[in-house]
Amino acid sequence: MSPSSNLPKQVKIVEVGPRDGLQNEKEFVPIDVKVDLINQLSSAGFPNIEAASFVSPKWIPQMAGSDEVMAAITRKPGTIYSALTPNMKGYESALAAKVDEIVIFSAASEAFAQKNINCSITESIERFAPVAKAAKQDGIRIRGSISCSFGCPYEGFVEPAQVAEVVKRMMALGCDEIDIADTIGVGTPGQIAALFEGLFTFAPKQQFSGHFHDTYGQALTNIYAAMQAGVSIFHSSIAGLGGCPYAKGATGNVATEDVLYMLKGLGIETGIDFDATVKIGEYIARATGKTNASRVGKAIAAKMNGRST
Ligand code: HMG
Ligand code: MG
Repeated sequence: MSPSSNLPKQVKIVEVGPRDGLQNEKEFVPIDVKVDLINQLSSAGFPNIEAASFVSPKWIPQMAGSDEVMAAITRKPGTIYSALTPNMKGYESALAAKVDEIVIFSAASEAFAQKNINCSITESIERFAPVAKAAKQDGIRIRGSISCSFGCPYEGFVEPAQVAEVVKRMMALGCDEIDIADTIGVGTPGQIAALFEGLFTFAPKQQFSGHFHDTYGQALTNIYAAMQAGVSIFHSSIAGLGGCPYAKGATGNVATEDVLYMLKGLGIETGIDFDATVKIGEYIARATGKTNASRVGKAIAAKMNGRST
């Protein structure tokens, strides 16, 4: 049996750098840089880009101007441009901005829901109900995101049953896709496999994605474990940008370049231009004045530029 025989032939990458990554920058990233980044990503073949967030600018100042970003990008036909919408106000902005997919987001832990969206999990679901109903009527895809599915910065270990409960509520709202997010990156492969296997006893595999942060260096291994369990959609962030404003110490999502390198090695298709992605990682690291957090990105860029690693 080949090592990859139980792995998917194809994986969908959801690039979350322009939102999950840039929302965490200290300095405001100019609109034209965001637009440039999104356009480069779509040109490189990314099928789904989390491009904007229609949340309160008092809570997340970095995402102010999301309407301008959406208006200025060059839409590539077939590319899904997603945006976060915590309530009807956010939904109306997202609709006006012509997003292809909205993201409603809650948590598996009560404390994190309170810190992040200022309400309980139950209240968040009640708040999302009219949003989801409107999106269905308007023919917009709905993605549900569940933070702290493996651990919470305030409550510690999170029981799989807590995640399953929120998944059921998200499914009842009509979500097309559900993200299982390891917001603080504490999950390990056995935990990842067990959680997904449990979820797949009542929900279809193709509806789930893994949103793994690399804080404890487990993200690639966790993606591998999730693929073995049957997941074929993963979120990643160019140059490993990101963190979480409400989870101290959380690093970025797993770096896109690292994920693509692993998938390429496994012969798994993504439809994304790898070399172009490395260049985009270098571009955004330069534009934000940060060190590229992708190990693969740094290694390949050094080769491309004739430097030694
Ligand atoms: P609140 O303060 O309880 O709400 O915030 P409110 O209804 O009382 O409104 C307060 C003010 O915000 C009002 O303005 C509203 O108009 C305004 P004021 O009257 O004071 O001038 N407001 C808005 N403005 C623009 N767009 C909106 C909006 N809604 C209200 N949509 C709320 C509740 C949910 C709005 C707030 O807590 C919020 O925006 N939270 C967002 C937090 C966030 O974006 N966190 C990061 C994203 S989640 C994440 O990164 C995790 C993820 O990546 C997965 C993972 O890794 O775990 C998805
Ligand atoms: Mg995240």
